Amino acid sequence: MQSDVTPANEKLHVGIIMDGNGRWATRRGLSRVRGHEAGVETIRRIVEAAPKQGIGTLTLYAFSTDNWRRPKAEVAALMTLLRFYLANEVQSLVKNGVRLSVIGRRDRLPEGIAAAIAGAERVTAHGHALHLRIAVDYSARDAILNAAAKAAALTSLTREAFSQLVTGEVGLRDVDLIIRTSGEKRLSDFLLWEGAYAELHFTERMWPEFDSADLADALASFHRRERRFGGLQSLPLEPAPSL
Ligand code: IPE
Ligand code: IPE
Ligand code: MG
Repeated sequence: MQSDVTPANEKLHVGIIMDGNGRWATRRGLSRVRGHEAGVETIRRIVEAAPKQGIGTLTLYAFSTDNWRRPKAEVAALMTLLRFYLANEVQSLVKNGVRLSVIGRRDRLPEGIAAAIAGAERVTAHGHALHLRIAVDYSARDAILNAAAKAAALTSLTREAFSQLVTGEVGLRDVDLIIRTSGEKRLSDFLLWEGAYAELHFTERMWPEFDSADLADALASFHRRERRFGGLQSLPLEPAPSL
């Protein structure tokens, strides 16, 4: 089988706010933690489906900086799931050509997780089928703030250079589409810089029940939209004046 050699940044960048694990579980009389466990199964399904649906970069919101406000037991369970995911998933990520990056703070994670993340990133570094970015202890406003602090030392600054400081990547494609499950219609501090022109797709489906057909629906709706980037319908964009 010939492998797809299109560079990741020429394919779509999709961000997903994986919401609704808790409600999915409580509605079934299960503990919220059961919902998070089921949510990990969905991650496996969607990571497998994404490259087949034209996605080159997939950014998943797993744990926000504000999620530390949850009860200690729920936070601990989420951290345990992250630990298991890193330990159990790396082999199949390598096999499927997935490069894993984790974005967000690492210094507040329970012991050993930062090292497991670094190990997983190293082992998967050569994957070209999909760039999977998982946001953990992540806040878009903090990412912008930290980039601004670094930029203060520079004498000149372009959008590209600032993007690199915000994302930690050279040439990361802007987010094309942000999907949020569970019926909530907000961004909750996710990809505020990279998603400046992202299309938004909100679905009532809870994250544990979201599947590859739902992903295909979201992408079909995305492809029906007309993206104008401030220009006019179907005319080539004129260059914007420099600052
Ligand atoms: C998303 O599901 C997972 C995390 C935020 C970690 P939630 O846990 O927010 O589920 P709901 O919104 O309470 O249903
Ligand atoms: C956003 O979901 C964060 C993740 C999905 C990881 P939340 O459930 O924490 O967001 P709010 O509190 O409803 O805005
Ligand atoms: Mg939620």
